[in-house]
Amino acid sequence: MRILLLTHAFNSLTQRLGAELQRRGHEISIEFDIADSVAEEAVALFKPDLIVAPYLRRAIPESIWRKHVCLVVHPGIVGDRGPSALDWAIQGGETEWGVTVLQAEAEMDAGPVWASAGFPLRAAKKSSIYRNEVTQAAVTAVLQAVERFAAGNFAPKPVAACEDARGRLRPLMKQADRAIDWQRDDTVTVLKKINAADGFPGVVDELFGDTCHIFDTWPESLLQFPGSQPGDLVARRETAVLRRTADGAVWIGHAKRAGDFKLPVTLAYAAEATALPEAKLDGWWRVDGQTWQDIAYEESGSGQNAVGFLSFEFYNGAMSTTQCERLQRALAWAKQRPVRVLVLLGGADFWSNGIHLNVIEAASLNEGSPADESWNNINAMNDLALELIEAGDQITVSALAGNAGAGGCFLARAADLVWVRDGVLQNPHYKNMGNLYGSEYWTYLLPRRVGAEGAQKIMRDRQPLTAQRAVETGFSDACLTGDTQAFRIDVARRAMEIAAAPDLEARLAAKRESRARDEAAKPLAAYRDEELSHMRRNFYGFDPSYHVARHHFVRKSLASWTPRHLARHRDLNWKIPA
Ligand code: COA
Repeated sequence: MRILLLTHAFNSLTQRLGAELQRRGHEISIEFDIADSVAEEAVALFKPDLIVAPYLRRAIPESIWRKHVCLVVHPGIVGDRGPSALDWAIQGGETEWGVTVLQAEAEMDAGPVWASAGFPLRAAKKSSIYRNEVTQAAVTAVLQAVERFAAGNFAPKPVAACEDARGRLRPLMKQADRAIDWQRDDTVTVLKKINAADGFPGVVDELFGDTCHIFDTWPESLLQFPGSQPGDLVARRETAVLRRTADGAVWIGHAKRAGDFKLPVTLAYAAEATALPEAKLDGWWRVDGQTWQDIAYEESGSGQNAVGFLSFEFYNGAMSTTQCERLQRALAWAKQRPVRVLVLLGGADFWSNGIHLNVIEAASLNEGSPADESWNNINAMNDLALELIEAGDQITVSALAGNAGAGGCFLARAADLVWVRDGVLQNPHYKNMGNLYGSEYWTYLLPRRVGAEGAQKIMRDRQPLTAQRAVETGFSDACLTGDTQAFRIDVARRAMEIAAAPDLEARLAAKRESRARDEAAKPLAAYRDEELSHMRRNFYGFDPSYHVARHHFVRKSLASWTPRHLARHRDLNWKIPA
């Protein structure tokens, strides 16, 4: 079928649905929901058999839903309606939730039901639930709805006739519903409130006497603060600050000041945070107990068969200069451990999304230079990638439980093996960010895996790679099924098998020889210099595209057109297949 995806943005859910439908032989084109007339034009050009709306912020125009079946993905159980479905579910402590695929009609989210899928609701950030459980359930339900539509004999049921309809209409969740009472709310309540608002819109609160939106919390149960009161800010660590609740304390990682954009709290309130006592962690070993630790190292197995695991839980997968430098130090330290397999686990929701565009943009707030900060950040990323490429004494594995984008994909590719959880998406291209050329040794790493032509195609097409597709193209080495926990267990088992295999020494020797041969043919420094000469032009040259794109990305400017590589029906050569 020809399926038009009508969406507010090409977010991860839309990317995943597009890829899954394409994989089943459907022809997909995408249009952003910018204006009724633009959507109508897209429908006229593409003449879809079916329209799917994975992520909309407003109703589909009547001129479209009257003539075409439009399937809308709603992140709520059957009967649930309203724009804050997940927010209410998380804040209200629901334990089971779901996704419903409805047919668009006059009343929003009230049309007949084509399919639904449920899941247990974790206590986690809304953005994490959306990228994991919601996305997976949406894929299941949309594929079922599309099959039913194709069969031609399915009659979608009105909500009132669905036996499993236990949801109801709920209003937009307001800041008054989210407000934290630091004197009364215990840690669990505070976590629920901030999780329900993460990554958007955040909870309006005060930090250092200034009104802002707060995001990104973690519980703390190891530290004690005698003499402090609930609500007091009591410590800082790396990018976060610690605040007392009624019965404990929580780390707050990110804040958005009025008129600004989201930043690590210790950058948004740099001077104020410095005055707080530092609660530094010693070294990189994972701390036992509840605390916030962005970089953590663990080992399993013993003696010859020991395997090292390095996690880096950076918010949104964005990696600033300082974070790259710290991670490089942790990696260098881990390489000295008596382990012969080293697994880089990244974070649970993202493995890495490359340089930290918000921190770079923030340089302009402090009369610094975003170009300089971009330069520092890409060099720190490159140093980190180099540390990984040059690990001669270990087999290295990047294990992606969450998505990766741009430079983050190539940082992962710097390991010997890349294992990806089924359902994870990689976007191994840079051009969407104002024609960035990219670095992280991609010109060395990518063609070795997919050939010169394959590399050109990946960079040119700018399409998300599903885990299966990544393995088919050679970009990744294995696609492992299961949720994040099952994935990590499988990763550990496979890594221990490699460590215990009789051919490990031979494998390591072959790795060192191959690296030496590559280095003799063309040194890594030459790849880096070439890439950075392009990046220098991106950052300091006369074409401001990268700075403009970053500005809009960080400030979340609304799209005013759909990029041509997504809206295939707008290609000059596009014709409806006979
Ligand atoms: N720096 C700072 N923030 C980043 C980021 C980066 N490199 N990459 C993603 N984010 C943030 C987004 O702003 C968003 O923030 P929010 O919490 O305010 O919503 C959040 O991470 C999730 O990103 P989103 O775009 O909604 O996720 P997605 O899964 O739909 O898309 C990407 C993933 C990677 C395709 C997309 O985020 C992207 O293009 N990122 C930029 C990658 C890049 O160009 N890096 C620089 C070159 S190395």
